[in-house]
Amino acid sequence: MIPVFKPLISKEERKAADRSLEIGWLGMGKFVKEFEEQISNIVGNKKKYVVAVNTGHSALHLIMLLLELKKGDEVITPSFNNIADLQAIIAVGAKPVFCDIDEQTLCIDLKKAEKLINKKTRAIIAMDYGSCLADHDRVKKLAKKYNIRVIHDAAHSLGSKYKGKMIGSFSDVAMFSFDPVKTFTSIDGGAIVVNTKKEMLKLHEMRLMGMSQKANIMYKNQRAWFYDVKNVGYRYHLANLHAAIGVEQLKKLKKIKKSRIASFKRYNQRLQNIDNIITPCYHVDTIPFHYCLRIKNNKRFEMINYLRSKKVDTGIHWQPNHTFTLFKKNKSGDLSVTNKIKNEILTLPLHSMMSNKDIDYITSKIKNFF
Ligand SMILES: Cc1ncc(COP(=O)(O)O)c(C=O)c1O
Repeated sequence: MIPVFKPLISKEERKAADRSLEIGWLGMGKFVKEFEEQISNIVGNKKKYVVAVNTGHSALHLIMLLLELKKGDEVITPSFNNIADLQAIIAVGAKPVFCDIDEQTLCIDLKKAEKLINKKTRAIIAMDYGSCLADHDRVKKLAKKYNIRVIHDAAHSLGSKYKGKMIGSFSDVAMFSFDPVKTFTSIDGGAIVVNTKKEMLKLHEMRLMGMSQKANIMYKNQRAWFYDVKNVGYRYHLANLHAAIGVEQLKKLKKIKKSRIASFKRYNQRLQNIDNIITPCYHVDTIPFHYCLRIKNNKRFEMINYLRSKKVDTGIHWQPNHTFTLFKKNKSGDLSVTNKIKNEILTLPLHSMMSNKDIDYITSKIKNFF
């Protein structure tokens, strides 16, 4: 079976994992610092502060707390988003309000988002999807006009560029994910990028159950036995083992970028001009996280079964959140694009270092199917 996702874990990652275990300091330590520095170098804006955490979901939860979102507040999010964002919003008692997406990019439709803004709106989530980026200039303008915060979910887009600027370098607050299937994995992990040292220090406490012990002590593979606890916090810090793997992954950024762009373009070339298929948009300078086709005329399930019979696995990213039982009563705007594409999207295998032979095989099967 050709899997939808496949991690690029080689001897470098395995050696790094071994090194971190041999040190005998399994908790947060010096590799976490190294990982944060590396993310910071990729983001490339020295005025920004990076805080590593244990998942993308915990990054989002801490962002909600950092922005002091609470009961009664509304957060506008595409319904077509990862469940992690939704759980983070409701974890602080705020309410998600579902917005539609742009049909080209599958990222939030800002014209429709503006219609959802009211007195209770405190924030809007701009999530980059797969190989496409949200309209970040426009979301910034909208946020300024209505005095709301922008949460940039860049779980898919570390290392990509928006209008020449590195992702993470221009947003007020952004987050990344390093989960098992992401473009860069630390097995599990996440990171938050903020503008001020004050925000960074607050996040340091919140990721460590509210303990005020200094990150700089832990970054030396040590811990302090005396500290204060003033605020709510969670056990969200990243372990050395994960960070050590993450460090090695990020060293491969150029290689991973080159290979994913080449595979993505090969898919797009080979799947042009086939009736019943819409190929995904590609923004220049992005590192594609996945390859999401749209299959028209209710052919998707037939296609899934056909490809499975040919030993090609596929995925669905995602079912929109407004369709889940938990969110049935949530407010939403016109979701016509979301409701259309939800029956069409199909993720094809895309990995780092994927072979042309595999792509040619998969695309020839799709052609055969039609
Ligand atoms: C857009 C988006 N945001 C957030 C997350 C959550 O990240 P994690 O899986 O690291 O918790 C994901 C995970 O797939 C995602 O795709």
